[in-house]
Amino acid sequence: MNGQSPNTLNIILSWIDVSNLNTLLHKEFNKHVLLHEEGYFETLVSFVAEKCLIKEKNIFEFGCGTGDLSLLLVVKGAKNVYGMDISEPSIQEARKKALKANVKNVNFQCGGIFETEIGSDKPDIIISNSVIHYIPGDLRPTLHRLFSMLKDGGTMLATVEAANKFSFIRMIQWFLFFVSPEVFKRNLHMLFGLISRFLNKDVLRNENELVLKSKARYLAVPIFQKKTKDEWVSEFKRAGFSDILIEMAPKLNKLSAPHYFITAKK
Ligand SMILES: C[S@@+](CC[C@H](N)C(=O)[O-])C[C@H]1O[C@@H](n2cnc3c(N)ncnc32)[C@H](O)[C@@H]1O
Repeated sequence: MNGQSPNTLNIILSWIDVSNLNTLLHKEFNKHVLLHEEGYFETLVSFVAEKCLIKEKNIFEFGCGTGDLSLLLVVKGAKNVYGMDISEPSIQEARKKALKANVKNVNFQCGGIFETEIGSDKPDIIISNSVIHYIPGDLRPTLHRLFSMLKDGGTMLATVEAANKFSFIRMIQWFLFFVSPEVFKRNLHMLFGLISRFLNKDVLRNENELVLKSKARYLAVPIFQKKTKDEWVSEFKRAGFSDILIEMAPKLNKLSAPHYFITAKK
């Protein structure tokens, strides 16, 4: 699958019908929203600003969640930002934030990438933070769709969870996703708290309760794309992108898992 050597994840995925998995994931992303602490995306946007100009650019955010990154890009001078996500509650939350902040040049829409129409004014930049690894099966159609949406000469920026050899956490994620009841998933933050106290590492002390709860809930959402840097380069190349650079993304907070930052051009 995906031109990679078979690994446990690919073998399991080949047993599971990917369309059923997509339906299951869609339901999953409609059950909860991801919240961030204030200023969470400042470091990422500074990193982005080193790669390309944000000012006066049209930007499309794929998988915008509750909209913090899109809204910050507007604050940093983007001309228009179009954020889309398959999660209805996330989009509702994003729209509330835009209304509250009185930001006009941002448009949040709920939907899938193949149904999303962005018109003839194609984006100069497509950005996607921590989304692509949640797409099961063959990534080619999605990446090719993103490529076709981007303006000629435009920049694609994406973060994806970095491949690590130690897949214990991933096994827990699969177990929690398929087996554990929702009430348990919703209260995973309590388990986090207990473990951190047990390890005598009170890393959660200053975390906002709602933010922590929403982040801990993601422990029950498995990653479906676990690729090395070279494999990501091949995926993006196959979709038509060029000048592909993969580096480590800046760490956005002490709890975030290491991510790759992918820069590619059309
Ligand atoms: C970890 S959250 C990241 C959200 C946001 N990018 C952020 O950094 O806060 C993953 C997001 O990807 C969205 N997502 C997953 N699969 C998607 C797909 N196929 N199309 C659009 N959004 C998707 C989920 O609904 C969820 O909001």
